Amino acid sequence: MKFNIKIAFIVAAFTMSMLFIITVILLYKGHEHLMMLNITNSQEVIHHFDLALRETALWSIALLLIVIMISSLLIARILTKPIHEMNKFALSLVKGKRNLKINYTIDDQIGQLGQSLLKLDQTLTVYERRRKEMTQELAHEIRNPLASVKSYLSAFQDGILNPTTKNLQACTEEMDRLITLIGELDTLNDINHPTFKISKNDCNIAKLIEKAVTGVASELLEKEIHLKLEVDETIYAEVDELRINQVLHNIIKNAMYHVSKEGTIKITLFREETHFCILIYDNGVGMDLETRNRIFEWNYRGKNAYEGRGIGMTITKKLVEAHGGEITVKSNLNEGTTFHIQIPFST
Ligand SMILES: Nc1ncnc2c1ncn2[C@@H]1O[C@H](COP(=O)(O)OP(=O)(O)OP(=O)(O)O)[C@@H](O)[C@H]1O
Ligand SMILES: [Mg+2]
Repeated sequence: MKFNIKIAFIVAAFTMSMLFIITVILLYKGHEHLMMLNITNSQEVIHHFDLALRETALWSIALLLIVIMISSLLIARILTKPIHEMNKFALSLVKGKRNLKINYTIDDQIGQLGQSLLKLDQTLTVYERRRKEMTQELAHEIRNPLASVKSYLSAFQDGILNPTTKNLQACTEEMDRLITLIGELDTLNDINHPTFKISKNDCNIAKLIEKAVTGVASELLEKEIHLKLEVDETIYAEVDELRINQVLHNIIKNAMYHVSKEGTIKITLFREETHFCILIYDNGVGMDLETRNRIFEWNYRGKNAYEGRGIGMTITKKLVEAHGGEITVKSNLNEGTTFHIQIPFST
Protein backbone atom coordinates (compact mmCIF):
# COMPACT_ATOMS: atom_id res chain seq x y z
CA MET A 1 0.00 0.00 0.00
CA LYS A 2 1.34 3.48 -0.90
CA PHE A 3 2.48 5.67 1.96
CA ASN A 4 0.09 8.55 1.07
CA ILE A 5 -2.91 6.17 0.94
CA LYS A 6 -1.88 4.90 4.32
CA ILE A 7 -1.90 8.45 5.68
CA ALA A 8 -5.33 9.03 4.12
CA PHE A 9 -6.65 5.90 5.85
CA ILE A 10 -5.25 6.98 9.19
CA VAL A 11 -6.74 10.50 8.93
CA ALA A 12 -10.11 9.12 7.81
CA ALA A 13 -10.19 6.65 10.69
CA PHE A 14 -9.26 9.43 13.07
CA THR A 15 -12.03 11.81 11.83
CA MET A 16 -14.61 9.05 11.77
CA SER A 17 -13.83 8.09 15.32
CA MET A 18 -14.34 11.74 16.33
CA LEU A 19 -17.73 11.88 14.58
CA PHE A 20 -18.71 8.57 16.10
CA ILE A 21 -17.94 9.80 19.62
CA ILE A 22 -19.89 13.06 19.15
CA THR A 23 -22.89 11.18 17.78
CA VAL A 24 -22.87 8.60 20.57
CA ILE A 25 -22.69 11.28 23.26
CA LEU A 26 -25.40 13.38 21.58
CA LEU A 27 -27.75 10.42 21.33
CA TYR A 28 -27.03 9.24 24.83
CA LYS A 29 -27.51 12.66 26.45
CA GLY A 30 -30.53 13.59 24.26
CA HIS A 31 -32.16 10.36 25.22
CA GLU A 32 -31.37 10.78 28.89
CA HIS A 33 -32.94 14.25 29.04
CA LEU A 34 -35.96 13.38 26.89
CA MET A 35 -36.77 10.62 29.35
CA MET A 36 -37.19 13.31 31.95
CA LEU A 37 -39.94 15.13 29.87
CA ASN A 38 -42.81 13.16 31.47
CA ILE A 39 -42.21 14.70 34.84
CA THR A 40 -41.34 18.26 33.91
CA ASN A 41 -42.96 21.48 32.52
CA SER A 42 -41.78 23.43 29.39
CA GLN A 43 -39.30 25.56 31.42
CA GLU A 44 -37.71 22.43 32.56
CA VAL A 45 -37.62 21.10 28.96
CA ILE A 46 -35.60 24.12 27.79
CA HIS A 47 -33.37 23.95 30.81
CA HIS A 48 -32.65 20.28 30.22
CA PHE A 49 -32.14 20.82 26.52
CA ASP A 50 -29.55 23.52 27.27
CA LEU A 51 -27.99 21.30 29.85
CA ALA A 52 -27.88 18.41 27.39
CA LEU A 53 -26.10 20.51 24.80
CA ARG A 54 -23.56 21.89 27.26
CA GLU A 55 -22.85 18.53 28.76
CA THR A 56 -22.54 17.05 25.27
CA ALA A 57 -20.02 19.71 24.33
CA LEU A 58 -18.06 19.27 27.53
CA TRP A 59 -17.99 15.48 27.36
CA SER A 60 -17.15 15.54 23.67
CA ILE A 61 -14.30 17.97 24.12
CA ALA A 62 -12.89 16.04 27.07
CA LEU A 63 -13.09 12.65 25.38
CA LEU A 64 -11.96 13.98 22.00
CA LEU A 65 -8.88 15.52 23.61
CA ILE A 66 -7.91 12.13 24.99
CA VAL A 67 -8.62 10.40 21.65
CA ILE A 68 -6.67 13.06 19.70
CA MET A 69 -3.67 12.74 22.02
CA ILE A 70 -3.60 8.95 21.83
CA SER A 71 -4.25 8.95 18.06
CA SER A 72 -1.53 11.53 17.32
CA LEU A 73 0.94 9.56 19.34
CA LEU A 74 -0.04 6.41 17.47
CA ILE A 75 0.07 8.14 14.06
CA ALA A 76 3.45 9.70 14.79
CA ARG A 77 4.76 6.33 15.92
CA ILE A 78 3.42 4.51 12.87
CA LEU A 79 4.71 7.15 10.46
CA THR A 80 8.12 7.72 11.96
CA LYS A 81 9.04 4.16 12.91
CA PRO A 82 10.19 3.14 9.39
CA ILE A 83 11.86 6.54 8.90
CA HIS A 84 13.76 5.97 12.15
CA GLU A 85 14.77 2.55 10.88
CA MET A 86 16.05 4.02 7.57
CA ASN A 87 17.91 6.73 9.45
CA LYS A 88 19.55 4.14 11.71
CA PHE A 89 20.47 2.12 8.62
CA ALA A 90 22.03 5.15 6.88
CA LEU A 91 23.99 6.07 10.02
CA SER A 92 25.31 2.51 10.30
CA LEU A 93 26.44 2.72 6.65
CA VAL A 94 28.27 5.97 7.42
CA LYS A 95 29.97 4.25 10.37
CA GLY A 96 31.29 1.62 7.97
CA LYS A 97 28.96 -1.26 8.90
CA ARG A 98 28.01 -3.41 5.91
CA ASN A 99 25.59 -6.21 4.95
CA LEU A 100 22.84 -4.74 7.13
CA LYS A 101 19.17 -5.79 7.22
CA ILE A 102 15.95 -3.80 6.98
CA ASN A 103 12.82 -5.15 8.71
CA TYR A 104 10.43 -2.78 6.92
CA THR A 105 9.53 -4.71 3.78
CA ILE A 106 6.25 -3.05 2.73
CA ASP A 107 6.33 -1.80 -0.87
CA ASP A 108 5.53 1.88 -0.28
CA GLN A 109 7.79 4.91 -0.79
CA ILE A 110 9.61 4.23 2.50
CA GLY A 111 10.01 0.57 1.54
CA GLN A 112 11.53 1.74 -1.77
CA LEU A 113 13.90 4.03 0.11
CA GLY A 114 14.88 0.97 2.17
CA GLN A 115 15.56 -1.00 -1.04
CA SER A 116 17.73 1.84 -2.36
CA LEU A 117 19.69 1.89 0.90
CA LEU A 118 20.15 -1.88 0.68
CA LYS A 119 21.49 -1.45 -2.88
CA LEU A 120 23.82 1.29 -1.67
CA ASP A 121 25.04 -1.11 1.03
CA GLN A 122 25.72 -3.80 -1.61
CA THR A 123 27.46 -1.34 -3.94
CA LEU A 124 29.65 -0.03 -1.14
CA THR A 125 30.49 -3.60 -0.08
CA VAL A 126 31.58 -4.52 -3.62
CA TYR A 127 33.44 -1.24 -4.06
CA GLU A 128 35.31 -1.66 -0.79
CA ARG A 129 36.16 -5.27 -1.58
CA ARG A 130 37.60 -4.19 -4.94
CA ARG A 131 39.55 -1.40 -3.34
CA LYS A 132 40.93 -3.84 -0.79
CA GLU A 133 41.88 -6.30 -3.53
CA MET A 134 43.56 -3.54 -5.52
CA THR A 135 45.51 -2.36 -2.49
CA GLN A 136 46.58 -5.89 -1.62
CA GLU A 137 47.62 -6.52 -5.21
CA LEU A 138 49.51 -3.26 -5.38
CA ALA A 139 51.29 -3.96 -2.09
CA HIS A 140 52.19 -7.44 -3.29
CA GLU A 141 53.46 -6.29 -6.67
CA ILE A 142 55.43 -3.36 -5.34
CA ARG A 143 57.08 -5.60 -2.75
CA ASN A 144 58.46 -7.97 -5.43
CA PRO A 145 60.63 -5.59 -7.48
CA LEU A 146 61.62 -3.65 -4.36
CA ALA A 147 62.73 -6.83 -2.60
CA SER A 148 64.65 -7.86 -5.68
CA VAL A 149 66.47 -4.50 -5.97
CA LYS A 150 67.18 -4.58 -2.23
CA SER A 151 68.71 -8.04 -2.50
CA TYR A 152 70.95 -6.85 -5.37
CA LEU A 153 72.06 -3.83 -3.33
CA SER A 154 72.77 -5.99 -0.25
CA ALA A 155 74.77 -8.38 -2.41
CA PHE A 156 76.83 -5.46 -3.80
CA GLN A 157 77.36 -4.13 -0.26
CA ASP A 158 78.47 -7.52 1.09
CA GLY A 159 80.74 -8.09 -1.91
CA ILE A 160 78.81 -11.22 -2.94
CA LEU A 161 78.03 -9.68 -6.33
CA ASN A 162 79.84 -7.11 -8.39
CA PRO A 163 77.88 -4.12 -9.73
CA THR A 164 78.53 -5.13 -13.32
CA THR A 165 76.56 -3.64 -16.21
CA LYS A 166 74.49 -6.80 -16.37
CA ASN A 167 73.59 -6.71 -12.67
CA LEU A 168 72.84 -2.99 -12.76
CA GLN A 169 70.68 -3.60 -15.83
CA ALA A 170 68.69 -6.17 -13.84
CA CYS A 171 68.13 -3.58 -11.11
CA THR A 172 67.00 -1.01 -13.68
CA GLU A 173 64.54 -3.50 -15.16
CA GLU A 174 63.03 -4.14 -11.75
CA MET A 175 62.66 -0.41 -11.19
CA ASP A 176 61.09 -0.06 -14.65
CA ARG A 177 58.60 -2.75 -13.71
CA LEU A 178 57.74 -0.82 -10.58
CA ILE A 179 57.27 2.44 -12.48
CA THR A 180 55.08 0.75 -15.10
CA LEU A 181 52.93 -0.82 -12.42
CA ILE A 182 52.39 2.44 -10.61
CA GLY A 183 51.67 4.12 -13.94
CA GLU A 184 49.05 1.50 -14.80
CA LEU A 185 47.36 1.72 -11.45
CA ASP A 186 47.27 5.48 -11.73
CA THR A 187 45.62 5.13 -15.11
CA LEU A 188 43.12 2.62 -13.79
CA ASN A 189 42.16 4.90 -10.91
CA ASP A 190 41.81 7.72 -13.41
CA ILE A 191 39.61 5.70 -15.73
CA ASN A 192 37.33 4.56 -12.94
CA HIS A 193 36.89 8.12 -11.81
CA PRO A 194 33.69 9.72 -13.13
CA THR A 195 35.61 12.81 -14.23
CA PHE A 196 38.07 10.82 -16.38
CA LYS A 197 38.46 12.38 -19.81
CA ILE A 198 40.75 11.61 -22.68
CA SER A 199 42.43 14.50 -24.46
CA LYS A 200 42.00 13.98 -28.18
CA ASN A 201 44.13 15.30 -31.03
CA ASP A 202 44.03 14.70 -34.75
CA CYS A 203 46.48 11.83 -35.24
CA ASN A 204 47.73 9.66 -38.05
CA ILE A 205 46.82 6.21 -36.75
CA ALA A 206 49.45 4.34 -38.82
CA LYS A 207 52.16 6.54 -37.25
CA LEU A 208 50.77 5.75 -33.79
CA ILE A 209 51.03 2.04 -34.52
CA GLU A 210 54.60 2.39 -35.80
CA LYS A 211 55.55 4.34 -32.68
CA ALA A 212 54.11 1.62 -30.41
CA VAL A 213 56.02 -1.03 -32.36
CA THR A 214 59.29 0.91 -32.10
CA GLY A 215 58.86 0.91 -28.32
CA VAL A 216 59.14 -2.88 -28.25
CA ALA A 217 61.53 -3.28 -31.20
CA SER A 218 64.50 -4.57 -29.16
CA GLU A 219 62.36 -7.23 -27.49
CA LEU A 220 60.91 -8.28 -30.86
CA LEU A 221 64.45 -8.66 -32.18
CA GLU A 222 65.57 -10.55 -29.13
CA LYS A 223 62.70 -13.04 -29.44
CA GLU A 224 63.12 -13.14 -33.23
CA ILE A 225 59.45 -12.39 -33.68
CA HIS A 226 58.31 -11.59 -37.21
CA LEU A 227 56.28 -8.43 -37.24
CA LYS A 228 54.01 -7.68 -40.18
CA LEU A 229 52.34 -4.32 -40.63
CA GLU A 230 49.49 -3.78 -43.06
CA VAL A 231 48.36 -0.27 -42.36
CA ASP A 232 46.35 2.31 -44.27
CA GLU A 233 48.57 5.38 -43.89
CA THR A 234 45.82 7.82 -44.84
CA ILE A 235 43.71 7.31 -41.72
CA TYR A 236 43.50 10.31 -39.41
CA ALA A 237 41.27 10.40 -36.34
CA GLU A 238 40.71 12.34 -33.15
CA VAL A 239 42.26 10.13 -30.47
CA ASP A 240 44.29 10.41 -27.28
CA GLU A 241 47.76 9.54 -28.56
CA LEU A 242 49.12 8.45 -25.19
CA ARG A 243 46.14 6.22 -24.37
CA ILE A 244 46.04 4.54 -27.79
CA ASN A 245 49.76 3.91 -27.47
CA GLN A 246 49.08 2.28 -24.14
CA VAL A 247 46.33 0.11 -25.70
CA LEU A 248 48.64 -1.04 -28.50
CA HIS A 249 51.55 -1.56 -26.14
CA ASN A 250 49.47 -3.78 -23.80
CA ILE A 251 48.20 -5.96 -26.65
CA ILE A 252 51.55 -6.24 -28.45
CA LYS A 253 53.29 -7.11 -25.16
CA ASN A 254 50.74 -9.85 -24.51
CA ALA A 255 51.18 -11.16 -28.05
CA MET A 256 54.97 -11.16 -27.62
CA TYR A 257 54.72 -13.20 -24.46
CA HIS A 258 52.37 -15.74 -25.98
CA VAL A 259 54.09 -16.44 -29.30
CA SER A 260 56.96 -18.85 -29.38
CA LYS A 261 60.42 -17.90 -30.63
CA GLU A 262 60.23 -16.89 -34.31
CA GLY A 263 56.47 -16.47 -34.00
CA THR A 264 54.46 -13.91 -35.93
CA ILE A 265 52.57 -10.80 -34.95
CA LYS A 266 50.53 -9.04 -37.58
CA ILE A 267 48.93 -5.61 -37.18
CA THR A 268 46.33 -4.47 -39.68
CA LEU A 269 44.75 -1.03 -39.89
CA PHE A 270 41.84 -0.29 -42.18
CA ARG A 271 38.96 2.11 -42.61
CA GLU A 272 35.26 1.37 -42.33
CA GLU A 273 32.43 3.80 -42.93
CA THR A 274 32.13 5.36 -39.48
CA HIS A 275 35.21 4.00 -37.74
CA PHE A 276 38.70 2.62 -38.16
CA CYS A 277 39.72 -0.92 -37.17
CA ILE A 278 42.97 -2.28 -35.79
CA LEU A 279 43.50 -6.04 -35.80
CA ILE A 280 46.38 -7.45 -33.80
CA TYR A 281 47.01 -11.09 -34.58
CA ASP A 282 49.54 -13.47 -33.11
CA ASN A 283 50.11 -17.13 -33.87
CA GLY A 284 50.86 -17.92 -30.25
CA VAL A 285 49.43 -20.38 -27.75
CA GLY A 286 45.89 -18.95 -27.94
CA MET A 287 43.33 -18.99 -25.16
CA ASP A 288 40.86 -21.45 -23.72
CA LEU A 289 37.16 -20.57 -23.40
CA GLU A 290 37.46 -19.29 -19.82
CA THR A 291 40.32 -16.95 -20.65
CA ARG A 292 38.46 -15.65 -23.72
CA ASN A 293 35.41 -14.90 -21.57
CA ARG A 294 37.25 -13.38 -18.64
CA ILE A 295 40.22 -11.69 -20.26
CA PHE A 296 38.95 -8.15 -19.55
CA GLU A 297 38.28 -8.83 -15.86
CA TRP A 298 40.43 -7.07 -13.29
CA ASN A 299 43.20 -9.37 -12.03
CA TYR A 300 42.29 -12.23 -14.34
CA ARG A 301 45.22 -14.28 -15.54
CA GLY A 302 44.72 -17.24 -17.82
CA LYS A 303 46.26 -20.66 -17.38
CA ASN A 304 48.74 -19.70 -20.07
CA ALA A 305 49.71 -16.53 -18.17
CA TYR A 306 53.28 -15.44 -17.94
CA GLU A 307 54.40 -13.45 -14.92
CA GLY A 308 51.73 -10.74 -15.28
CA ARG A 309 49.26 -9.05 -13.03
CA GLY A 310 46.10 -9.60 -15.06
CA ILE A 311 45.25 -5.92 -15.31
CA GLY A 312 46.63 -5.02 -18.75
CA MET A 313 43.48 -5.97 -20.63
CA THR A 314 41.17 -4.34 -18.06
CA ILE A 315 42.95 -1.05 -18.66
CA THR A 316 43.01 -1.60 -22.42
CA LYS A 317 39.23 -2.17 -22.62
CA LYS A 318 38.48 0.90 -20.52
CA LEU A 319 40.75 3.06 -22.67
CA VAL A 320 39.14 1.86 -25.91
CA GLU A 321 35.69 2.47 -24.44
CA ALA A 322 36.75 5.95 -23.33
CA HIS A 323 37.18 6.62 -27.09
CA GLY A 324 33.62 5.36 -27.71
CA GLY A 325 35.13 2.23 -29.24
CA GLU A 326 34.92 -1.50 -28.77
CA ILE A 327 37.46 -4.27 -28.30
CA THR A 328 36.82 -7.96 -28.86
CA VAL A 329 39.00 -11.02 -28.95
CA LYS A 330 38.96 -14.17 -31.04
CA SER A 331 41.25 -16.97 -30.05
CA ASN A 332 41.72 -20.70 -30.35
CA LEU A 333 44.10 -22.82 -28.34
CA ASN A 334 47.35 -23.53 -30.20
CA GLU A 335 46.17 -21.51 -33.21
CA GLY A 336 46.55 -17.90 -32.14
CA THR A 337 44.74 -14.80 -31.06
CA THR A 338 43.29 -11.75 -32.76
CA PHE A 339 42.29 -8.59 -30.94
CA HIS A 340 39.82 -6.47 -32.87
CA ILE A 341 39.61 -2.79 -31.97
CA GLN A 342 37.19 -0.42 -33.61
CA ILE A 343 37.06 3.26 -32.80
CA PRO A 344 34.59 5.73 -34.32
CA PHE A 345 35.94 8.77 -36.16
CA SER A 346 33.62 10.98 -34.18
CA THR A 347 31.85 10.34 -30.87
N1 LIG B 1 47.83 -12.72 -27.08
C1 LIG B 1 47.44 -13.58 -26.12
N2 LIG B 1 47.51 -14.91 -26.31
C2 LIG B 1 47.11 -15.79 -25.36
N3 LIG B 1 46.63 -15.41 -24.15
C3 LIG B 1 46.54 -14.09 -23.89
C4 LIG B 1 46.93 -13.12 -24.86
N4 LIG B 1 46.71 -11.91 -24.31
C5 LIG B 1 46.21 -12.13 -23.09
N5 LIG B 1 46.11 -13.44 -22.83
C6 LIG B 1 45.58 -14.07 -21.59
O1 LIG B 1 44.74 -13.12 -20.95
C7 LIG B 1 45.15 -12.92 -19.61
C8 LIG B 1 44.88 -11.48 -19.20
O2 LIG B 1 45.72 -10.60 -19.92
P1 LIG B 1 46.20 -9.26 -19.25
O3 LIG B 1 47.04 -8.52 -20.20
O4 LIG B 1 45.01 -8.57 -18.67
O5 LIG B 1 47.04 -9.76 -18.00
P2 LIG B 1 48.54 -10.26 -17.96
O6 LIG B 1 49.16 -10.08 -19.29
O7 LIG B 1 48.52 -11.63 -17.37
O8 LIG B 1 49.17 -9.26 -16.89
P3 LIG B 1 49.53 -7.70 -17.09
O9 LIG B 1 49.12 -7.30 -18.46
O10 LIG B 1 48.70 -7.02 -16.04
O11 LIG B 1 50.96 -7.63 -16.85
C9 LIG B 1 46.61 -13.30 -19.61
O12 LIG B 1 46.99 -13.72 -18.32
C10 LIG B 1 46.65 -14.43 -20.60
O13 LIG B 1 46.27 -15.63 -19.99
MG1 LIG C 1 49.16 -8.15 -20.24
